[in-house]
Formats: sequence, structure tokens, C-alpha cells
Amino acid sequence: MTAPADNFDLVILGGGSGGYACAFRAAELGLRVALVEKDKVGGTCLHRGCIPTKALLHAAEIADSAREGAKFGVRTSFESVDMTGVHAYKDGVIGRLYKGLQGLVKSHDITYVEGTGRLTSPTTVTVGDRVLTGKNIVLATGSYAKTLPGVEIGGRIVTSDQALTLEDVPGRVIVLGGGVIGVEFASVFSSFGAEVTIVEALPRLVAAEDEAISKQLERAFKKRKITALTGARLASATRDGDEVTVTLESGNTLTADLLLVAVGRGPVTDDLGYAEAGITLDRGYVVTDERCRTSVPGVYAVGDIVPGLQLAHRGFAQGVFVAEEIAGKDPAPIEESGIPRVTYCDPEIASVGLTEAAAREKHGDATTAYDYNLGGNGKSQILQTQGFVKVVRAGDTGAVVGVHMIGARMGEQVGEAQLIVGWEALPDDVATLIHAHPTQNEALGEAHLALAGKPLHAHA
Ligand code: NAI
Repeated sequence: MTAPADNFDLVILGGGSGGYACAFRAAELGLRVALVEKDKVGGTCLHRGCIPTKALLHAAEIADSAREGAKFGVRTSFESVDMTGVHAYKDGVIGRLYKGLQGLVKSHDITYVEGTGRLTSPTTVTVGDRVLTGKNIVLATGSYAKTLPGVEIGGRIVTSDQALTLEDVPGRVIVLGGGVIGVEFASVFSSFGAEVTIVEALPRLVAAEDEAISKQLERAFKKRKITALTGARLASATRDGDEVTVTLESGNTLTADLLLVAVGRGPVTDDLGYAEAGITLDRGYVVTDERCRTSVPGVYAVGDIVPGLQLAHRGFAQGVFVAEEIAGKDPAPIEESGIPRVTYCDPEIASVGLTEAAAREKHGDATTAYDYNLGGNGKSQILQTQGFVKVVRAGDTGAVVGVHMIGARMGEQVGEAQLIVGWEALPDDVATLIHAHPTQNEALGEAHLALAGKPLHAHA
């Protein structure tokens, strides 16, 4: 029986980025909300993903700065990485954000239900013996780190989950998968002093990015002595005491002290009652339309369980969208292509919109691209970083449809890039904006000046 108090306008299953954003926005809009979470509000992003990994990457940057002081005329030396200290710092960051988030759950008028929920009908979520009834249901159960058949996680074979709590820095690391997680961890391990080899099946690292970005990253990683074996597929991985041996399909073998498996994240949708309730799934993902509606009326899905970019900020945006949709606000659907992407390895990668190849396909052969080299950017020279800003201009409309950046701190530039692509700006529109000097942001301005036919510190 549903207690009268357990009737809601919406019941949200999962308290990660997508779920809690939906809960907060719905509560703000005066809806009665139940949020069900089996572990900790904040989900993967806060506890096992974005936040802890970026803390590790920042510690990695500090290690590199200590090594490289002499480059700037400052006498520093790198001694060692104390993982206990790194974890204390990382966990301190998580702890403060978690506390803040718990406070927000309390201050919004939300019924927070701790426990494992299950969809028991298109209008009910059951948690233990409690039945929560919702006029609407939002599925937001997130994703998990996948592995490959025959590669069993345990001991020295880990996913990003275990890699976040290592007690020591391994001497030699093999990273399986040169996607986002793979290159971020490769960057961390290398800065922490490990010898790193990436094994990637596709012909290039970060294969979803523009080809020029992959090339520059591979060059930078080579300089950092990170080995990238591309076009290399794993045949098997075996544990032997404290060592792991990886055999590639080519027959080559590699040994290491740690194997990090980073071959993608799968949706958490098994055994949750989704299929039984009639929800259409595709390879485990929940199929939705552009308004986040599943195949069952009144049931929505947001975040990593929905096919597409698996990014926390996409989850937030979808969660907010669904809350507003349910409240009758008729929000504009989210344009997947306008979602900014940042990979926080060193050098950092930031992009939004179409790659040059995709733009050429969509907007014709007259599509052009301009690469502004950070060599001409004062602030980048001060930071001693290398890279570029690449702007892609559609052949048919003349608008900027893609921006691709690589170099230290370039993630911070993605905001303006997103506005440019989102507003389908013409290079001339951007060329009239004044970019502060000396900032890395000027590189974005310079690229547009060049595309508008009036280069300042660049050749046309
Ligand atoms: P991914 O899909 O980005 O990369 C996985 C890589 O593994 C691919 O390049 C794939 O070709 C390779 N691979 C698969 N099977 C292989 C095999 N047998 N041998 C060798 N290579 C193989 O997935 P990843 O890096 O695990 O990340 C999961 C998700 O989390 C992504 O969607 C990513 O966008 C998201 N994420 C985002 C971050 C960010 O925005 N900064 C940070 C970390 C994760």
C-alpha cells in the first residue's frame, strides 16, 4: 500500500548529477519530489568520477611544477608523491562538496529516500517495503566502468574506481583504452612518476576528437615519455603475483605493476525492473526521444543511461529539462552537439561542435578550418605550453560550427567557444569582440580574426 505521504509528482531513481539536478529544479518549481539513492547523493561525478580525478590531475600538475621549476628560474625539486596525502587532499575536496550537496537536499523540499529502488510499475518505485508513487518517474541510474571479456577486475587489474584509491604509485602502468579516462589517468600516473603505456584499439588517442587534436596529444605524450600503442587490440590479460601480463592480438606482450581498464562505461539498467515495465532498451541503454521521454508515458530518463555523451553536465541539463517539462514550462530540447567537452590530461583538450571531418560531411567541401598556434599567444608562452585553437567554419552557412583546443588550461576557454558555436556566430561577429591581453583567451579571438580575413598575430 502506498501511504498518502508517498504520493509524488515525480519520483527520481538515482541521485547523481542527472537525478539530483532534476530533484532540485522540480522542487523549486513547486513539485512534490522523491529522490531515491542507494549510496551517496552526488553519484559517480562527485564520488568516483569528475571531482576525484580532477583532484588527482591537479596534484599531478603540482608534481610537474615541482620538477620543472628550473625552467622558470625557480630552484625546486621533486621528491616523491605521498599517496596518503594526495587522498587526504582529494577526499577533503569531495567531503566539502558532499556536505554542501547534502545541505542542498535538506534545504530543497525533497523527500530523500536512502536505499535501492526498483521500478515496479510505470508509476511506482519500490524501496524495501516502501512504495513511492509518482505521476511521473525519472530514471537516472548512471553508469559503471566496463571491462572486456576475459579481463577480470581484481588485484592489480583495476578500473577507474579502484585507481582512485591506490596506496602507492605503481612503477609501470598499462592503460587499456586511449579514450577520455585512459588519457586522463595516463597523464596522472606519468606525472606521479610511473612508466605508462597506453593500448588503444583505434588508430589514434581520443578518437572522438578532431584528428589534429589526437596528433598534438600524441606528440605531447611522446615528449612526456608516455608510450601510446595505437591500433593495438588486447588479446588477454593475466595476473601473476604482483605483475600483470598483457598480450596483444599482434602477439606482443607487455608486463606492468598495474593494468587500468578504461574501455568505456556501460549503463546501470539491469535488474531494475525497466524492461518489465515496458521501457525500450537498446544494448542496455534507455531509448528516449529529444524530450527525454522513454517508450512508457510518464517515465523519463536522464544522464549516462541515455545513449550519447556521458558527461555530468549533460546529465545536469537533462535533469533540469525534465523537471521543467513536467512542470509544463515547455523547455527547449538539449542540442547534443552544443555540449562542451573537456579532457583534463596535460595538455588539456577542450572542444565543442563538429570536428573538421564531420563539418565537411555536413556542410560541404567549402568548409574551412583555421589553426591558431599557441606559439603566438603571450600567456601560453608564459606558461610554456604548446598547442592550438582550431576553428571550423561551415562551407554552406559561413558560421563557426566547431572549436577544438589543446594546451595547458584550455578547458577554461570552452565557455566562449560554446557561445560561438551555440549562436552560430560568423567569424566576423567574433572578430569584433575584444579579448583581454595577455590571456590564452586571445588565441580564440586571434583565430576568428584570421578567419575573418584580418589576422593580427598570425598569417591569414
Ligand atoms: P571512451 O569510450 O572514451 O574510451 C574507451 C577507449 O577504449 C576507446 O578509445 C576504445 O577504442 C578503447 N578500447 C575498447 N576496447 C578496446 C580493446 N579491446 N583494446 C584496446 N582499446 C580498446 O571511454 P572511457 O575513457 O572509459 O570513458 C567513459 C566515459 O566517461 C566517456 O563517455 C567519457 O566521455 C566519460 N568521461 C568524461 C570525462 C571528462 O569529460 N573529462 C572524464 C572521464 C570520463
